[in-house]
Amino acid sequence: MEQISTDPDFMRHLTAFGPFDTRPEGRVSSWAPTPGETLGGHAARQVLRLCEAAGLSGSDSAEYARTLLTALGPVAERPLDLPPPYDSFLSDDHSPVEYSLAFTPDARPTLRVLLEPGCGAESLAENGRVGLRAVRAMARRWGFDTQRLDELEDLFFPPDPEGPLALWCALELLPGGVPKVKVYLNPAASGEERSVATVREALRRLGHARAFASLPPSERPLFLALDLGDWEEPRAKVYLVHRDLRAPEAAGLSRTAGGPAQAEIARFFRTAAGHDVDGLGSPDGRDVPLDRRPGLSCHAFTETGTALPSGFTLHVPVRDYARHDGEALDRAVTLLRRHGMDPAPLVQALRAVTTRRPEDGVGLIAYLALVHQEGRPARVTVYISSEAYEVRPPAPAPRARAEAVH
Ligand code: TRP
Repeated sequence: MEQISTDPDFMRHLTAFGPFDTRPEGRVSSWAPTPGETLGGHAARQVLRLCEAAGLSGSDSAEYARTLLTALGPVAERPLDLPPPYDSFLSDDHSPVEYSLAFTPDARPTLRVLLEPGCGAESLAENGRVGLRAVRAMARRWGFDTQRLDELEDLFFPPDPEGPLALWCALELLPGGVPKVKVYLNPAASGEERSVATVREALRRLGHARAFASLPPSERPLFLALDLGDWEEPRAKVYLVHRDLRAPEAAGLSRTAGGPAQAEIARFFRTAAGHDVDGLGSPDGRDVPLDRRPGLSCHAFTETGTALPSGFTLHVPVRDYARHDGEALDRAVTLLRRHGMDPAPLVQALRAVTTRRPEDGVGLIAYLALVHQEGRPARVTVYISSEAYEVRPPAPAPRARAEAVH
């Protein structure tokens, strides 16, 4: 892993990159690939530019681009004109990379990268093994321990796993070149019917014996996520799927003790889903469900001994409820301003990942999320697709409304 900093491959990936990019705007594709462009080259360039948008130094940016290539492993070399390595669930076009900006009031947003280290593997079992190796290599490199993950290995890495993923990891790209690391595990690894038991047992082993009982009803758990490394309060997070979610139900999903104001969650939901312009209510007074891609809630457990979570997040998959990214961006800007955050870095970030105009596709903004962690101001997170392989064309008609009338 250490040899990567002098890896000549890294330079090769970046040869097409220049700080003054003169490629034309407005293509209906992501960066038009230069001949021989690789997945790693594409992603590394995006990271360099995103790091700039997030205010990171040049050396941190270069370090993080290298880190991303290392984490992707040999698939980084894969030419972009080949299809994606496999039908990864990580993003709609199966790019094994997705970005996000976590906004807080009065600070620059934090840039994060979600990736699937095992995306080049032949099987889901091997995908998981590659993922574990990648996370352990990070642990050695940055000097943290993986004990919390090791304790769960038998639950999430059975010999013949099922489900939509094996292991993803997310890196928070902080100033200094050493990221914070999170891993995402698949509760359905031992069968979807065992998801609930798997998550309950995982939480128990992590010291949260009573946590599962405090979760709201849901269709199923989607991920169990763990903070690894140098976190003030490492979290275990449970992501839940809520089919046909409406604003009032979304508002009631939080189980934190203090709890965010329900009205604030409902308002966020309606604005993100496009159910109104100002978040105050739908025009006909009815609440429209998210009947395409489901909404997700995430519950973060920190303090052992307390049954209740200390954090709550609502994820709205805006891309399935907007005609194009121009609309999604407008909603993101409204939400950021409402919560006291400057949307400028988001606009810059979108330009960092693609030359296409937001109106020319949908899915560049994948999710909008409202994050509450006890004792901290509310955060808004915007998930940004890599679109390494494909841009989803804009939808022909206002999708949420069209659905609402019948
Ligand atoms: N692509 C999957 C989805 O859209 C999983 C996923 C990727 C996801 N990034 C995410 C889920 C961010 C929630 C938030 O559901």
